[in-house]
Amino acid sequence: MSDKVIEVLNLTKKFGEFTAVNHVSFDVQAGEVLGYLGPNGSGKTTTIRMLLGLLQPSAGSARVLGFDIRTQAEAIRPLVGYMSQKFALYDELTMRENLDFYAGIYGVPRRARADRVREVIELLHLQERERELAGDLSGGWRQRLALGTALVHQPQLLFLDEPTSGVDPSARRAFWDLIYDLAQRGVTIFVTTHYMDEAEHCHRVGIMFRGQLLALDTPSGLKASALPGAAWDVTPDHGAASLVAALSALHQVPGVVRAGLASDRLRAITAPDAHTAEALRTAMVSGGFANAQVEQVEPTLEDVFIALAGHGAEERSSTDKQPMSE
Ligand SMILES: Nc1ncnc2c1ncn2[C@@H]1O[C@H](COP(=O)(O)OP(=O)(O)O)[C@@H](O)[C@H]1O
Ligand SMILES: [Mg+2]
Repeated sequence: MSDKVIEVLNLTKKFGEFTAVNHVSFDVQAGEVLGYLGPNGSGKTTTIRMLLGLLQPSAGSARVLGFDIRTQAEAIRPLVGYMSQKFALYDELTMRENLDFYAGIYGVPRRARADRVREVIELLHLQERERELAGDLSGGWRQRLALGTALVHQPQLLFLDEPTSGVDPSARRAFWDLIYDLAQRGVTIFVTTHYMDEAEHCHRVGIMFRGQLLALDTPSGLKASALPGAAWDVTPDHGAASLVAALSALHQVPGVVRAGLASDRLRAITAPDAHTAEALRTAMVSGGFANAQVEQVEPTLEDVFIALAGHGAEERSSTDKQPMSE
């Protein structure tokens, strides 16, 4: 086997007339943390289900750990861990009993089971809660336990489907520390998220939108290729009421390729070498915003996402009640 742990070529899934995953191709290297970033409904879970052999592709092919997903799914499943979006824990069992139960399901030999469960408890720092019933745990602890149940059989490859959705920011950070820990130990990780800030932590990030993989690269590579110019924060400084007027003024400034609302200020992307901060500020001042402030900022993956996904995504990101970033 090569060091490609996952190889995907033109993978496609249709549900009737609807194409949920549309000719997606990518590779995942051994030891990599690959993030799959996209809003709800973009095809992330459907991709994972095909890679696990749970769903037959409509077209295309893929190999996972060298095995064909269409014909050798039985060989893949014992070697991978899967934390699904709707993971199942047994509320009336303790943490440790849940781990022991899953170890049994995954065929960990009885004599090795206690040691393996102990290792997972230590690896994920679960000691302080190991005797508590799963039903009594908070969201963050349940998520960690669910990760544990996906690890009891020592998989080389882990699929994590939105593992941090709905948990508070500190639990999310702790969870990402565990993900790095596992990657350092050589586990390859395919993780989906709709949180832009989380995707920044991945070695490489694939951007999914409406079933298509729009780009896949390192976070800095994505920023360099999708946003060849510069990103700016523009604060008109007339209060929120002037934001919309300032946005239309910003749109008129030559060299501004994209402008949008970003909470209490505006975000602009300009063509390469089109502007200095002072030139952009001067343009806003002549547009009637005498106190405008302009600051060059690091582009974010949200900027990349909007640049790649286009206007539909931009509307979504400024109006959605549950934006992709927090
Ligand atoms: N079994 C199914 N039958 C019909 N449509 C489905 C099925 N599974 C998923 N879909 C649709 O496919 C699209 C992608 O879904 P999914 O892969 O779950 O997206 P994500 O995980 O990115 O939120 C959605 O529009 C969803 O409604
Ligand atoms: Mg999903």
